[in-house]
Amino acid sequence: MTVLVSIDGRIVPPEEALVPVFDRGFLYGDSVYEVVRTYGAVPFALDEHLERLERSAALLGIELPRKREHIRAEILDLVGRADHGDSYLRIIVTRGTGEIDLDPGAARDPRSVVIMQPLRPLPRDLADKGASVLVVASGRFPGGAIPDGSKTGNYLGNLMALGRAKRKGYHEAVLLSAAGMVAEGASSNIFIVRGGSVETPALSAGILAGITRSIVIEEARRASIGVRESLLGHGDLLGADEAFLTSTLRDVLPVVRVDDTILGAGSPGPVTLRVREAYLAHVRGRIARDRRA
Ligand code: PDD
Repeated sequence: MTVLVSIDGRIVPPEEALVPVFDRGFLYGDSVYEVVRTYGAVPFALDEHLERLERSAALLGIELPRKREHIRAEILDLVGRADHGDSYLRIIVTRGTGEIDLDPGAARDPRSVVIMQPLRPLPRDLADKGASVLVVASGRFPGGAIPDGSKTGNYLGNLMALGRAKRKGYHEAVLLSAAGMVAEGASSNIFIVRGGSVETPALSAGILAGITRSIVIEEARRASIGVRESLLGHGDLLGADEAFLTSTLRDVLPVVRVDDTILGAGSPGPVTLRVREAYLAHVRGRIARDRRA
């Protein structure tokens, strides 16, 4: 099992992976990040993740410390050193180190950190049995506080919401937007199934444009399943025939309980299972292609 960290392109073992306390990522959460998973030595959707990293950084006025291609090569080098199966990769860019000063101009040199560790699989029966979610009203920052669609290191709202859900025994929290509409999970996107079609909050709800979400939308349409991006209320979730979460680490995870309400038969629904299979087939195809490349 290999855990390695690349700091500004220099690979070190975890016990030497230290950044200064004056780094603004530590002081203010002034950073952006991505989570990528690999299948063996092949990262999945790495280019989309690096594109989103660059977009998030630009929204915060942070420049990537090196060209995207360069960072990509460093990640592939790191992954090549793993002696375990699948890896979890966390790619972080902070605004860097400077005087303690809220002014973003106080730091000049952004810092990159890539953490590679073995992927921790989801509990074996979670996808078969389905997960539970708790809707939490107070998770998301009010619109505009953090640029919509950016994946920043500042996850306090999400982690407080997740803490509440976990303490009550739920797998994930679903956050409502400031306007009271369904937004997304603490670290996932949410979909419902109604009348055989799939519905998910539109990006205008201020959510993260999940990479899994967008592949799921594409693959569902290809499988002739209707998809609508719209505004959903708490009641739409409770009244859904089926629901599922999407994220890099969960792929398509069926949801069988929202708050105290059991959805449908209380087991993963047929449309969810079709979507999940279509997504996994997409992943298998892409990984096989990338492996040959
Ligand atoms: N989280 N919404 C939020 C708030 C997220 O943090 C994530 C991902 C997603 C799903 O995005 P994607 O399909 O691109 O992984 C949606 C990652 C996995 C994490 O922070 O662990």
